[in-house]
Amino acid sequence: MDTILVSNRVAEPSRTGAVPGGLAAVLLSAVKTSGATWVGASGKFAPAEEARMPTHSKKLGAGTLTTVDFPVTDYRRFYNGMANSALWPILHYRADLLRYEPEFVASYRVINEIMANVVADRAGPDTLVWVHDYHYFMLGEFLRQRGFTGPIGFFLHTPFPTKSVLICLPEHRTVLKALSAYDLIGFQTDEDLLRFRDYAITKLSATMVGQTELQFGDRRVKLGIFPVGINVEFFAEAARENIDSNKSNRIKRGLHHGKLVIGVDRLDYSKGLPERFAAYERFLTIYPDERKRVSFLQITPPTRSAVESYRRIRAELASHAGDINARFGDVDWMVLRYINESFPPDQLAALYRISKVGCVTPLRDGMNLVAKEYIASQDPEDPGVLVLSKFAGAAKELNAALVVNPYDIGELAQALYRALYMERAERIERWSAMMKTLRGGNIVRWYEGFIDTLRESAVSPAPVASRSVA
Ligand code: G6P
Repeated sequence: MDTILVSNRVAEPSRTGAVPGGLAAVLLSAVKTSGATWVGASGKFAPAEEARMPTHSKKLGAGTLTTVDFPVTDYRRFYNGMANSALWPILHYRADLLRYEPEFVASYRVINEIMANVVADRAGPDTLVWVHDYHYFMLGEFLRQRGFTGPIGFFLHTPFPTKSVLICLPEHRTVLKALSAYDLIGFQTDEDLLRFRDYAITKLSATMVGQTELQFGDRRVKLGIFPVGINVEFFAEAARENIDSNKSNRIKRGLHHGKLVIGVDRLDYSKGLPERFAAYERFLTIYPDERKRVSFLQITPPTRSAVESYRRIRAELASHAGDINARFGDVDWMVLRYINESFPPDQLAALYRISKVGCVTPLRDGMNLVAKEYIASQDPEDPGVLVLSKFAGAAKELNAALVVNPYDIGELAQALYRALYMERAERIERWSAMMKTLRGGNIVRWYEGFIDTLRESAVSPAPVASRSVA
């Protein structure tokens, strides 16, 4: 059975190898090895909608990458509007940042329909289609309208919010009811699944069939939990190999035996960066002796800069970072290195390994793969410590991290100190437990687990649940 994966963002192997966001990194490695076809946006535009939009295909390892040119106005309303001004803030509990215009949902439909045409043209009777993320909630419905009867799965990489937040989105029913066209809907955590189930029952008139299936009219949809993993061995090896690269050695020399704390996040308000900076300031205030012993490296590539809320957080962070360095820095010591650039994964692996502490403190996050990459990159004999937000999906699996509430600035400041001075034996014990979890749930298992469950769901009308939830 051939497989078509669909996502908005695709990872073209770029000059630097840097990949924007967790989704694209995960699918890139899955497509290269599985031989699937991956369809997404080309980033190029056609002036208006045509019967068949231009597409471009090339090999990607054993797989194929196909990209689509979209009509410029609709794509902007879809991406900057519906996806990133309406859906993203709602999915991350930020109804205060929601901006909505009726043309957003109209263009969202147009882009989902165009993508349905592209997929329908490539799908045979035996094709399995797997749709990724909030850009394409409606794609399954349009594919069914085009007569496709094969298995279609959907995976949400972000959190699914509580219904009281979700209903702030105008047209939420139009957009989310379309999910009933899928055979399998996958979530990162049990809580996301339960919140979706509650919303579907109370707002979309779905009924429960057992714990993990929903009936929408004549359609039966299965729900499952599939926490996304990483390529653990890639990071472990890349960290080992790059630890003595010129760049790594320059950084180590610049530390003059001081300790490095690292944060790596897209520049997004969901990542808790102002709170993280405030906690670091608090730490430097409570422990003045640390001012010349610790340096914080925050790598933060800007994204979605056409959206106002992203421009605001960017300006806020630049000014906050400047204040911290002005207040606590010295001529011979940089307390905070704040960098708006992305790095390729092999270089990140080395930076993770040099860093005594990995600081991953989002206010909300579907999974957060940086947490997993940080752990996979550590030296088994002398591992660093992960400080992890309890609001990241990863905290479910990585509960041997120092798990914090990112809104509690004092707790976060204390956790930094505790992490920097944790005894080696305790670090090894915590790290080993997390590494075991990561190896058990790596990227290949995630990919194959979803595909196998989808295949079963489409064959049997009442399939066995992948993991039961209460
Ligand atoms: C998150 C989303 C992805 C998205 C990525 C990067 O990980 O879940 O769907 O691709 O962010 O965001 P961007 O808007 O640059 O694609």
